[in-house]
Amino acid sequence: MSRIKNIGILTSGGDSPGMNAAIRAVVRTGIYHELDLFGIRRGYQGMIEGDIFKMQTTDVSNIIQRGGTILKTARSKEFMTDEGMKKAFTQLKKHNIEALVLIGGDGTFRGAAHFFEKYFIPAVGIPGTIDNDLTGTDFTIGFDTAVNTAVEAIDKIRDTAEAHDRLFVVEVMGRDAGYIAINSGIACGAEDILIPERVTDINEMLARIDHDERRKKTVHIIVVAEHDNYGGAKEVKDIISTRFPALDVRACVLGHIQRGGSPSYADRVLASRLGFTAVNALLAGNTQVMAGVINGNVVLTPFTEIVKSDGYAINNDMLEMIRVLSV
Ligand code: F6P
Repeated sequence: MSRIKNIGILTSGGDSPGMNAAIRAVVRTGIYHELDLFGIRRGYQGMIEGDIFKMQTTDVSNIIQRGGTILKTARSKEFMTDEGMKKAFTQLKKHNIEALVLIGGDGTFRGAAHFFEKYFIPAVGIPGTIDNDLTGTDFTIGFDTAVNTAVEAIDKIRDTAEAHDRLFVVEVMGRDAGYIAINSGIACGAEDILIPERVTDINEMLARIDHDERRKKTVHIIVVAEHDNYGGAKEVKDIISTRFPALDVRACVLGHIQRGGSPSYADRVLASRLGFTAVNALLAGNTQVMAGVINGNVVLTPFTEIVKSDGYAINNDMLEMIRVLSV
């Protein structure tokens, strides 16, 4: 097999803080190896539309600390069709792009797996999502920053909750995963944390509020993951207000602030390591694998084995600890 000379890079799915640091690492590692690097804007949609440009090392200057993605991102339905893939392949050929580095989530890698089956374009993935919901890596790029953002916000909410003796239900993101909820909740000393991985026993939660009320615990923070089985903050707040009409309860949805902002040091380092690894992996002949970090070591896992993680890392010890620490 002849050595790869031209690599395309894109970001796809929801953006996450640290994606720019990963782009920087890919571009600079590629240029170090005397490759030509092509930025593909707006993910697979930009690939279909030929929104492609050659990148220089200066294109990635001063971006390691910036949130968002300089390549922009999108979720493309068209790429999932035969016609869409054909158009995308035509555009890659036009620019002589022989291999891809894809920064995104499981949907991004599923798309790449189908594309490879048809057109044999080698690809290496980098996990970029705030949800931390992928197998093949202990952490996804952006998760650490998102949790820190949520912690900062919840700390502020606690100040006002305390001033008014209020109960707050705070909703965090995470799609079907409770990693942001459980980690921000523990870090903020939340009285309760509701996550999709565990069926919420609403009566148990109400009993705990009742118990706290009786012993005059005036501030109460409940962190709820957006896809808890009882719904989000508003639904949980309504249940509490109906059961305890005298309680002053507020719902707060943190929303997209969790996706933005300057990446934490941990996300910058992770992104740099994985960007560097992705290019070296392609040059070593790897394809259809995602670069991740497990137990501190960089590992490559086939796309076919990358699935949404099942919440295994949220173990019973942690759940027990939350109960104990909120007495
Ligand atoms: O996957 C990242 C994420 O922020 C999820 O936590 C959330 O459910 C979803 O994306 C929101 O998507 P959108 O930005 O399209 O509203």
